[in-house]
Amino acid sequence: MVSKVRKAVFPAAGLGTRFLPATKAMPKEMLPLVDKPLIQYGVEEAMDSGLSNILIITGRGKTAIEDHFDVSFELKDLLERKGKTDLLRQVRNVSDMIDVSYVRQKEALGLGHAVLRAKELVGHEAFAVVLSDDVIDAETPCLRQLLDIHEFFGATVVALMEVPKEQISAYGVVDGEPVDHHGAKNRLYRIRSMVEKPKVEDAPSNLAIIGRYVLVPEIFQSLESIEPGAGGEIQLTDGLKHLLRNRPVYGYRFEGKRFDAGDKLGFLQATVEFALRRPDLGGPFRDYLRGLKQP
Ligand code: G1P
Repeated sequence: MVSKVRKAVFPAAGLGTRFLPATKAMPKEMLPLVDKPLIQYGVEEAMDSGLSNILIITGRGKTAIEDHFDVSFELKDLLERKGKTDLLRQVRNVSDMIDVSYVRQKEALGLGHAVLRAKELVGHEAFAVVLSDDVIDAETPCLRQLLDIHEFFGATVVALMEVPKEQISAYGVVDGEPVDHHGAKNRLYRIRSMVEKPKVEDAPSNLAIIGRYVLVPEIFQSLESIEPGAGGEIQLTDGLKHLLRNRPVYGYRFEGKRFDAGDKLGFLQATVEFALRRPDLGGPFRDYLRGLKQP
């Protein structure tokens, strides 16, 4: 029996250079999609997937994230006095619903390095990793889909998505062998190898790793033994490749729609789609979009 995964690690120490100048003084994780910061979508996905322990790896200039998940007495007081119960509930939900811890990554030395910072707090148990600029809209939360595979095989699972060839170099890319699982074909792969940010001509497939992982604790030893890779950084993909030497790693082509909200275009697409779906905004926003003239 595989024990239940409880912890979700959120690397959030990156510099957010793809979103400058907005991210010069504000963490990219706090960019709002409609009215919720990116990281909150990830945290809610983790909670909806049954994970209650959130561990955020922060860096310099990231205190807004800690404040966001903390209780704001002034705000609570103001909303209470004004009788804004709906807003009060939303604000309280964020701080009440989760148990968050923070670890500092002093230098941004890569995703693998960030995950390694979680070693002491995670201990010897499997855990999830969520990259909050990958926002995934899915009926069953993406992380839940990966956890189901993990609970079945007791192994590491990464989220996969097919991406167009010309974009493949922005991702970790896998070479995998399809595995039939509960009748679903071409969703689950047993990974043979993987490479971080390959050149188009070197990419082993069009299956890219998306920012959701369920990792076994042995990943920490792997991350400790690898050298810096693409971009001179300690890459999680390289750690996983090292882990593959003696542990199986699965990839799951999840059901749902992913937005690259760390990219300006992806962020705009997510904003429009999420706003259109909102009961309070969807109607008037749709009317507004319809009324726009083609420039
Ligand atoms: C990271 C990972 C990469 C993965 C990507 C998904 O890259 O290193 O393997 O494909 O997230 O979003 P980054 O986007 O931080 O460059």
